[in-house]
Amino acid sequence: MENSPFITTTAEETRAFGKKMAQVLAPQALVCLEGDLGAGKTTLVQGLLEGLGAKRPYISPTFVIMKQYDLPQATVQGIRRIYHADAYRVGEKDFHEIGFLEWCADPAGLVILEWPERIGNLVPQNKTVITLRSLSETERQITIAYAT
Ligand SMILES: Nc1ncnc2c1ncn2[C@@H]1O[C@H](COP(=O)(O)OP(=O)(O)OP(=O)(O)O)[C@@H](O)[C@H]1O
Ligand SMILES: [Mg+2]
Repeated sequence: MENSPFITTTAEETRAFGKKMAQVLAPQALVCLEGDLGAGKTTLVQGLLEGLGAKRPYISPTFVIMKQYDLPQATVQGIRRIYHADAYRVGEKDFHEIGFLEWCADPAGLVILEWPERIGNLVPQNKTVITLRSLSETERQITIAYAT
């Protein structure tokens, strides 16, 4: 299933889009973000984190591989922990070893993954895929698909 694309013209708008999306996320879900370097994946996730009530700072996981946020308060839907990960610099084997599948199995967890393409075979079936495409320096096209 795929919706019609949404277009933002500033980073702030992309953040606001993420913040809105936070309201519909359930626990034990996997959200994958696809798109080129600088497409706005981390920017959108910062909005998601804010919408979910995660404590700042919201750092990019490019270098730390995964940053975990324990929410001070569970969301209405029951999310208590967020695992924000970036597979850009890591292979499938390493990602498996640091516990990717355990994060996905956390009944009160939400896994947000940038660069899922890098660990293709490890990514579970049911997921939400957000794709960001740069149309110009400041325009981004955002598409959401549910893959089963
Ligand atoms: N409409 C927009 N939406 C999001 N980001 C935008 C937009 N316009 C400009 N930008 C800029 O593009 C950059 C997006 O960076 P961001 O780190 O979010 O990308 P990324 O997809 O996570 O990249 P990487 O693959 O390196 O992790 C930021 O510098 C941001 O200010
Ligand atoms: Mg990023």
